[in-house]
Amino acid sequence: MTDTDDLGALRVELLEKVAAASDEAALEQLRVETLGKKGVITLRMASLGQVAPEKRREVGQANNELKNAVAEAIAARQVDLGRAARAARLAAERIDVSLPVRPEAEGHIHPISQTIEELIQIFAEMGFTVAEGPEIESDFNNFTALNIPPEHPARQMHDTFYLPPAADGSARVLRTHTSPVQVRTMLNQKPPIRIIAPGRTYRSDYDMTHTPMFHQVEGLVIDEATHMGHLRGCLTEFLRAFFKIDDLPLRFRPSFFPFTEPSAEVDIGCSRKGGQLKLGNHGDWLEILGCGMVHPKVLEMCGIDSTRYQGFAFGMGIERIAMLKYGIPDLRTFFDADLRWIKHYGFSFLDQPSLGLGLNR
Ligand code: PHE
Repeated sequence: MTDTDDLGALRVELLEKVAAASDEAALEQLRVETLGKKGVITLRMASLGQVAPEKRREVGQANNELKNAVAEAIAARQVDLGRAARAARLAAERIDVSLPVRPEAEGHIHPISQTIEELIQIFAEMGFTVAEGPEIESDFNNFTALNIPPEHPARQMHDTFYLPPAADGSARVLRTHTSPVQVRTMLNQKPPIRIIAPGRTYRSDYDMTHTPMFHQVEGLVIDEATHMGHLRGCLTEFLRAFFKIDDLPLRFRPSFFPFTEPSAEVDIGCSRKGGQLKLGNHGDWLEILGCGMVHPKVLEMCGIDSTRYQGFAFGMGIERIAMLKYGIPDLRTFFDADLRWIKHYGFSFLDQPSLGLGLNR
């Protein structure tokens, strides 16, 4: 076939076949049959020599157009089929990685965690940052740097868990309070300093009101001007915000700690009428924390010039304030890992502590 007459029909036929090719293999077969070495179009082009010379140009052009049209149609169809094949494969390989909800697996935030979050919120608002220290502490940081030298009677009061000495022979303990974080902070930071340090502490003691592991939060403020009045204002603000009692009264009683001078214990107002403990301005008092102005000896041992800098520190039991705020009667239950207890006293993970209601400003 060397004429252009039948080209129109051939073109329609080939393009229809391309459109009908149902997969990539069928399309490839069609390509071989049309454009391959022995394909219809290739053969037509090869036999151009048999065409009458005056028609060759016209027939040659028509063949070329046909060849291009079919090649283009095949390429386009190939893209379509490739897309369809990939979509089919993706659909077949689809995996549902989601899990159904398990309403029975509902966790709770432990009251200790919740209380720590709450107190961080309040102190952060007052410009404090959170500092941390290790629970395994050097004897120096836990005692000596806090003006409790070896043989000092205050060491006996701490029921210390002693550990085997460190590699360099220095004595180690489980920290008996969070006060060593004061030491670490002052050794590593220049004043002004304003930190709180919540964390675990350890004393060898176990009864209704003592567990061998418990939590404290330490506070430390060091600058050139902070005095006892600031300490009182800071603790008043914190305790009123924490317990959400606007007129909660505070009483500062003289006391003694080796690392503060003067030292005080702070009581908050309460009532014990009818055997029920209730916080507020009711005439009775409940001891809640220890505090004082940082002892000049402690400042000096931590490399801070005590003729220029001064400030206050305080330490508070976290279980104690949590028990008072949330009406939890027995300290030991905090660490029983009893699911019924945590379901009752725990918090939803959505229960974000918020300040708005707490601080009276
Ligand atoms: N570290 C003291 C204790 O555990 C509490 C305290 C801290 C007192 C800071 C004064 C200043 O009893």
